[in-house]
Amino acid sequence: MAKVIVEELKEFYQHFPTVAAIVTSHGLGRDNAMACAWHCPLSRSPALYGVSVSKRRYSYELIIDGKEFGVNFVPFELAELIASVGGSTGRDMDKFESFKIERAEPVKTSVPILKDAYAAYECKLVDHRTYGDHEWFVGEIVCTHLLKEAFTDEEVVDLERVSPPLYLGAELYLAPSRETVRFIDRKVYGERR
Ligand SMILES: Cc1cc2nc3c(=O)[nH]c(=O)nc-3n(C[C@H](O)[C@H](O)[C@H](O)COP(=O)(O)O)c2cc1C
Repeated sequence: MAKVIVEELKEFYQHFPTVAAIVTSHGLGRDNAMACAWHCPLSRSPALYGVSVSKRRYSYELIIDGKEFGVNFVPFELAELIASVGGSTGRDMDKFESFKIERAEPVKTSVPILKDAYAAYECKLVDHRTYGDHEWFVGEIVCTHLLKEAFTDEEVVDLERVSPPLYLGAELYLAPSRETVRFIDRKVYGERR
């Protein structure tokens, strides 16, 4: 099949799917939550995590003020909550109250942590920089909240117990299933010629 070359993208979905997370913030005396699909681990030691947030988001202002953020990973069953916090702004409302989001106590920061998250990073801002129309926030993970039973002994998310919501773009979400998992050993395949 022929490929086409495009110089300007209409939507920017080609790299998806990505786990859709909920980024939380505390600043200007307020708590907030937003959906975030543009996020990424950057370093293991120290543990650094990056989130890309448009300057138009209220969350941008809160992260700049509070110098902290949380990255919350919720199960597929809560994909509608992701759409709720991604389809509303904290400028006009308290999302925690409106969407009945339950909090767990943060340990090392003041950012709200979602009780229903199977994993959540509390991050202290170590750097930020504007790239185009988004701000790249780099946080040091100062502690991680983990639902132990959501992970295997190898610390891999256990798809028998939790299915992370994968975002495809265009408001489409996908639940990965256990049946599609394959073990493909890099040691074996790295030596195959
Ligand atoms: C699945 C999904 C992923 C999103 N990913 C991002 C993202 O990575 N960065 C961003 O700035 N906005 C992203 N958004 C949009 C924000 O979540 C949305 O604009 C939200 O209303 C911002 O809330 P706030 O103004 O309270 O900060 C995403 C929205 C959805 C639904």
